[in-house]
Order: sequence, then C-alpha cells, then structure tokens
Amino acid sequence: MKVQRFSRIGFILAAAGSAVGLGNIWKFPYMTGEYGGGAFVLIYLITIAFIGFSVMIAEMLIGALGRADTVTSFERLAPPDKKWWKYAGFMGFNGIIIMTFYSVVIGWIFYYLFAIFGGLPATTQEAKNAFNSLIGDQVLAQIFFHTLSVIIVGFIVYRGIKGGIEKINLILMPSLMLILFGLLVYAFSLDGFSKAFAFMFEPKWEKLNSEAFIRAVGHSFFTLSLGMGAIMTYAASLPKDTSITKTAFIVTFMDTLIALVAGLVIFSFLFQFGAQPGQGPGLVFISLPTILHNFGSLGVFFALLFFLALAFAGITSAISLVEPVVQYLIDRFNFTRAKAVVVISFIYWLVGIAALLSFTNSWGKLFSMGGKPLFDILEFTTDSILLPLGGFAIVIFVGYVLPKTQVQAHLHKSGELSGKLYAIWMFSIRYIAPIALIFMMLNLMGVLKI
Ligand code: PFF
Repeated sequence: MKVQRFSRIGFILAAAGSAVGLGNIWKFPYMTGEYGGGAFVLIYLITIAFIGFSVMIAEMLIGALGRADTVTSFERLAPPDKKWWKYAGFMGFNGIIIMTFYSVVIGWIFYYLFAIFGGLPATTQEAKNAFNSLIGDQVLAQIFFHTLSVIIVGFIVYRGIKGGIEKINLILMPSLMLILFGLLVYAFSLDGFSKAFAFMFEPKWEKLNSEAFIRAVGHSFFTLSLGMGAIMTYAASLPKDTSITKTAFIVTFMDTLIALVAGLVIFSFLFQFGAQPGQGPGLVFISLPTILHNFGSLGVFFALLFFLALAFAGITSAISLVEPVVQYLIDRFNFTRAKAVVVISFIYWLVGIAALLSFTNSWGKLFSMGGKPLFDILEFTTDSILLPLGGFAIVIFVGYVLPKTQVQAHLHKSGELSGKLYAIWMFSIRYIAPIALIFMMLNLMGVLKI
C-alpha cells in the first residue's frame, strides 16, 4: 500500500480542520446557551483538558503506529491471540452515519449563503418561519444543497491526502480563522461583548445538572473528532518524527479556542440587542440572522462572513468523516480511490435524503420511528452511543492491550511525553476516560437515574 504523507503543517491543519466543525460554531454556542453559560463552559474545558486531550494522543498513536486504515491498524497492533481487536476498527464507519445528517446541515448552510442576499429577517417570527419552511417544506432545495455538499466533499476526498485534503485545509482553515477573529475584533467594540464574556466565563452553578455534565463529556469527543477513526486515519499519514503530544496539543488548543471565539462572537451580537441565549439548535439559523438585521447592510456582510466560516468548518470536518471508510475500502478491498468515493458518497447521500425527509411535513411520518424523526435517531445513535463506544475501545486498547514499552518508547521518541506527564496521561487513559465513558453509557441506558 502506498501511503502519502502530510507535511507537518498540513497534518496540523487537517486534524484541526477535522476537529473544528459545526460542533464548534453551531453546536457549542447553542449548548452553552441552553445549559446556562459559564458552568457548562467550565465543565467542557475540564473534560477537554483531562479526557479529550489524552484520548486524542491515544487515537493519534494508534494511527501513527498502525499506518493504515482503522481496521488494519488495530489488526496489526493487536497481539497474535487478540486479532479480534480489528473489529474495533469498524469505528471508521461511524463517520458515514454522521455524514448522513452532517451533510444535510452543510446543505442548509449553503442555502443560507444564498438566502442572505434576499435580505435578513426583521423579526424572530419571520426567521423561524423561514427556517421551518426550509426544513419542513422545501424538499427539492434541501436535496439540491445536500447533493452539492456530497459532491464537493467527494471531490476533495477523491483528490487524496496531498492534492485534496491537505490542500483544501491549507486554504480553508486560515480563512476560517481570519473571518472568526475579524468578527471577534468587531464584537469587542459592542456593548454586548462584556455581557457575552460574563455569560460564558462566570459560572452559574445552579444551572448545572448531571445532564449538562454528560452532554459536556459527549461533546468534548464530538468536537475533537474522537472515537470514529478520523484522527486515526489522518495520523496514519503523519510525517515521520512528528511529536504526537505537541501536535495533539495544538489541535486541541485550536479547537477549543475557536469554539470559545465563536461563542463570544454570537453572544456579543445577541446580547447587543437583548436576545435570549437559550434557543437551541435554531440559535445560528434563527436568532443570529434576526439580530444581524439590526446592523443594516453591514449585517448582511457579517451574516455572509459567518455562514462562510460555518461552511468552511463543515467541509473540512466532513472530508475527515468520509476518508476513514474510503481508506478502508482501498486498503482491504483494493478499490480505486474514485470507486471508493463514489460508493460511499452514494450511500450516505441516499440515507441523508431519508434523514432530511424525516423533518418534512409531507414525508415526516414515513421516515420516523416511534415518533422520532430519522435525522434525530441518526444523530443520537452516533453522538451518544457509537462515539463513546469508539472512544472506549481506543482507551482500553492503548491503556491495556498495546505493550507498555511500545507506547512509552514511541511517545518518548516522538515528543517528550515522559516522566510525570506520561504517568498522568496513562492514568487518564486507563482510569479517568473509561470511567467517564462507562458513566455516560450507563446514564444513557437509564440504569443510573442521576
Ligand atoms: N469535530 C467535528 C465538529 O466539531 O463538528 C465533527 C466530527 C468530525 C466528528 C469528524 C467526528 C469526526 F470523525
């Protein structure tokens, strides 16, 4: 198998591109709004530091040592009598399930990029109607933009690690940061900024409950792209002699920073005109456009920049969701890249259509189960079940199955994770992360009613 390698900066931007996505700019702000701000942010930061960062190192390590698709990497690294670990590698397929709805949301963003030019909504009601009409009635428009997203993502993945994934990240990631930091500088000048800052960084403990805690742990995995083999697959193309620890730190830091900046920008705009933060998933599609209306034509410009940043973040994450399975089909079944991309894209395109239909008025019933739309079922299954399972497999494998000497030697060689730091990391991988994940899964199953 011919493995192309990233350049060092290319790898950092690609991994950060995977991590920084809709999870940072869309989901994190609305979750922070729903769970009352500061306390949720604090729990999120603690989980990122003590669990997410450690798991990121572990996932990168499996990729860097295995140097292949996720299934082959697990198979190669497992001891001879434990080759069944290769089944853990099927976590790569989670990405395709995520793509079914992720691509639909990217489609909505594309739609908004055009709709903005027709003027921003003057009232929340108007914005709500527009959004509800898009997801409830406009089947063809949604299919069109979902298809566009599938084609763009498919084309980039088809171009491969060097000519596609690395290249696009080298362009989109700096652009995304420029836009977001530009918006932050503007947000500084608003009165809403100090309120946004207080909302996000002054913990109101009374708002915190166990649900917020569980969601924070789950989100720390989602936002860092962990538990699905995306980071693992990229790490298989890591340039030689790259420090895993340092790289994981930079990626984790960038992801967290961008989530915080996105939150500050959105809440500064909202608080400037007294809007409420706890609006759920519609925060970005409903409240933000309405608020920006108050800025006149400058508002249209801001909305354009914001949705552009959101689109860039979504695309760079989407390619990392598709790449693991594509790599798997190439490695294990000798598919050409083109064939792998076409087969995979077709599957998630089709299921994606079923997912978007599940929100529509005319088809909703047909694509729902037990009253739950397929879209929500897919999101819940990946976010809350498959992803923690994938994370669990990673930490158990690195913490208990891989020979300690191999782990230690590689981390030591590749980046100064030795002595006390190594011990802390190992402790997190062997105890803290698995316990937090078990806790999460038990809670989900309703065994623990906390
Ligand atoms: N980390 C991405 C986000 O925050 O939107 C989502 C994601 C990408 C999750 C890739 C998992 C993954 F493998």
